[in-house]
Amino acid sequence: MYKTLLAETSDGICLITVNRPDKMNALNREVLEELNAAIDEVYHNAAIKSAIITGAGPKAFIAGADIGEFVGLDVEEAKKLAKQGQGLFDKIENCPKPVIAAVNGFALGGGCELALSCHFIYASENAKFGQPEVNLGLIPGYGGTQRLTQVIGRNRSMELLMSGNMITAKEAEQYGMVNKVVASEELIPKAKEILFLIQLKAPIAVSKVIECVNNFDHNQQGYDFELRKFAECFQTEDMKEGTSAFLEKRKANFKGK
Ligand code: COA
Repeated sequence: MYKTLLAETSDGICLITVNRPDKMNALNREVLEELNAAIDEVYHNAAIKSAIITGAGPKAFIAGADIGEFVGLDVEEAKKLAKQGQGLFDKIENCPKPVIAAVNGFALGGGCELALSCHFIYASENAKFGQPEVNLGLIPGYGGTQRLTQVIGRNRSMELLMSGNMITAKEAEQYGMVNKVVASEELIPKAKEILFLIQLKAPIAVSKVIECVNNFDHNQQGYDFELRKFAECFQTEDMKEGTSAFLEKRKANFKGK
């Protein structure tokens, strides 16, 4: 179905693999378009409850935007390309179902930005993260300066973005960017394990968690948003089921309604 991706769903989890291993899974326009279609499918296909994004082969998650496609772009064309990338990554970030990155090697440039747009990141021990755009006379354009700063803080973000240095999976874990570091062969099983656990929870409540965290705000606005989402849960069947099940000392059976 796709030329640059593999996508297969089993037990409610859609495993999306960017499949250009000879080019370190670099994000060319076709990959962006196909990822957009695959994420649309995650949004709209009721059989899909959650998704994992990973890269093909043992070396790379995604080594960045396809540098070859940058050659000859003018300012307007560059804006258009960044808009396409930012639009896709916004769509991933705001997906109402959990989308996690399973980073299996180099996550550089657009690859690091893509991982940061997922709801959280698991990584293999050989994973490396970096924003090396300054080596090319560039800066990140798919949301990297914003999400990286939000996730790891201003000073670490400044250093990574200005130096172009890579950090290891362990360092990324210390920075709070990666939730779990595991052996390569454990990466997809561990990602599936946490998604299976989340799939047992009330899906509408899970989607409201995503909305609230994405609407994080230091000021009253964030609390007001949470208050509305909390109250909305009270009109769901799942909330009635969850509270009744607890009081009746039985397991809840959520229907996503
Ligand atoms: N865009 C286009 N092609 C890329 C790419 C990218 N971002 N990253 C890797 N490739 C291609 C290489 O050109 C090479 O293609 P070729 O075999 O046709 O020559 C192939 O992938 C393998 O990469 P190579 O550099 O030979 O592998 P390596 O193991 O020596 O190094 C990296 C791996 C990831 C360190 C190195 O490829 C790299 O620095 N990539 C660019 C990272 C980057 O700057 N990303 C930000 C882009 S905005």
